[in-house]
Amino acid sequence: MDTNGQILKNFLNLYWLRPETAIWRTLDAIQMKNIAFQKPLLDAGCGDGSFSFTLFSGETSKSFDVYSTISSTKDFFSGKDIHNQNSFVKPKITKKSSLKINVGMDWKSNLLDKAKSYGLYNKLIKHDMNKKFPFEENSFNSVFSNVLYWLKDPIFSLSEINRILKNNGQVIIFVPDKKFQNFLIFNHFLKTKSKWAKILDRGIHDNIKHCYTNQEWKKIFSTSGFEISHHSTHLSKNLIKFWSIGLRPYSPFLIEMANKLDNLERKRIKNRLINELYPLFRSYIDFELSSPSKNNCFHMYVLKPKS
Ligand SMILES: C[S@@+](CC[C@H](N)C(=O)[O-])C[C@H]1O[C@@H](n2cnc3c(N)ncnc32)[C@H](O)[C@@H]1O
Repeated sequence: MDTNGQILKNFLNLYWLRPETAIWRTLDAIQMKNIAFQKPLLDAGCGDGSFSFTLFSGETSKSFDVYSTISSTKDFFSGKDIHNQNSFVKPKITKKSSLKINVGMDWKSNLLDKAKSYGLYNKLIKHDMNKKFPFEENSFNSVFSNVLYWLKDPIFSLSEINRILKNNGQVIIFVPDKKFQNFLIFNHFLKTKSKWAKILDRGIHDNIKHCYTNQEWKKIFSTSGFEISHHSTHLSKNLIKFWSIGLRPYSPFLIEMANKLDNLERKRIKNRLINELYPLFRSYIDFELSSPSKNNCFHMYVLKPKS
């Protein structure tokens, strides 16, 4: 199997009950395939660590996935993040990540506890990225972050990243384009206060606060002391349209049902799902990769401090 196929299989193994997430994250990882991460490396907004673990080729046993760690789905429809729970099942690592990340940082301690269980991070720090970062100047050679668009002021947080980065360091970030919110299938209907749109949205629209054009991002980077050394786009209008519903409203029930299965049965059904649906997802990923980029709505930037 080629690398893209392996990346997809690894994400499907972790996110099988939300294939739209597996497709999105596979496309993220493919974007980053040629990046040479220099250490010390900071994963800023690392979440539960499952993305970075899989990005760096880590694999877990087939009986583990991010849903097996969810003990209750009852607050899903009151808008809670069901991944943000205290009790969780530790992953059984079948292949260690190819790289160890020096520091992972997030503001949620239960996500940090999960991140610890992947054995990926040397150190995990609880910190709100809207505040001064808890590191000295010139601490890191690389910073990866997929959270700037959630933060209050991306210029403040990017300036902090600039401060803690070494002179020849690099920052790798994902940020949405202005088009992103319009591609959410419910976006226009949120304005007309449609109930179906609110149920599907679950706060996505408000959480993703900063969506800008390439020119606007460029200005933000420049104000924060950065220049762009690499730029690419991914995630088409199609993908965001189906992702904006996906299996989301069904997922609490699917998770609850799956968590009632014994390990063998869960593994059998999951394996079958991954194998039977792989050709569909793989072909869709190839289609995304070969489609014209004008409708892509996420940017990946590699930034370096201005000389
Ligand atoms: C989109 S997720 C990305 C997680 C992971 N890096 C990935 O790519 O899958 C954003 C993460 O940023 C964290 N986050 C959001 N706001 C934050 C803040 N103010 N300070 C630190 N972390 C924050 C969230 O808890 C979440 O884990």
